Amino acid sequence: MRAPYLRLGVNIDHVATIRNARGGPYPDPIRAAMLAAQAGADGITAHLREDRRHISDADLLRLSREIELPLNMECAATPEMLEIALRHRPHAVCLVPEKREEKTTEGGLDVAGQHNHLKHYTARLRDAGIRVSLFINPDERQIIAARDLQADIVELHAGGYCDAVLEGNLKKAEAELAAHQKAARSAAALGLEVHAGHGISFDTVGVFAAMPQVVELNIGHFLIGEAIFIGLHEAVTRMRRLMDEARP
Ligand code: PXP
Repeated sequence: MRAPYLRLGVNIDHVATIRNARGGPYPDPIRAAMLAAQAGADGITAHLREDRRHISDADLLRLSREIELPLNMECAATPEMLEIALRHRPHAVCLVPEKREEKTTEGGLDVAGQHNHLKHYTARLRDAGIRVSLFINPDERQIIAARDLQADIVELHAGGYCDAVLEGNLKKAEAELAAHQKAARSAAALGLEVHAGHGISFDTVGVFAAMPQVVELNIGHFLIGEAIFIGLHEAVTRMRRLMDEARP
């Protein structure tokens, strides 16, 4: 069986991280989004954090006005973010857990534990015609809870597998991979669209691209880092090629 086309969403948060280190306008994350589009990205992802440590409100406005690719807005389930999402109406909103003191999104959303809290957000986004994605660990309980909330998409937190590979912990990597494969199968069987993201690099993209149920990968930090050495166009092109080569 031929797997469906695998989309590449390029996350441009860390272009804004570098810009914000100096407080000026350079480098411009919207220019990076345009370049990613020219290099073959299928979508742009941006995480508007409560503390605005990278993407700003002005960036989000420009992304929704100036970029033609579908915009996937990542945010926490808070009244402020809901109001912003309803104002900009991105193609999709990916709800993620957010802790002020974390360096990056450390784990998946506890959809099962927060059903009552999330219900309001998923319903409002859905009613506005915005696709609802929930960022979860590869865990059956969370998948069922996402289905119960009528989410359109689950994005599997790839970080557990990617970190295990980086640490050289093969046993853990194997277990994480098996959990992702199982999660991708059961989410798809429940009618959820399956995405994956977080920590994916040239070395780890292949296993996710090889899962036929996964239809979108969202990749940021590695691509922006790699752009320092080979340029963003080449980094995106190479990632795209590795995805295509690994696709069944
Ligand atoms: N997907 C989600 C839901 C995320 O929170 C992030 C990080 O913001 C990514 C994908 C991209 O992860 P990375 O920057 O590690 O590639």
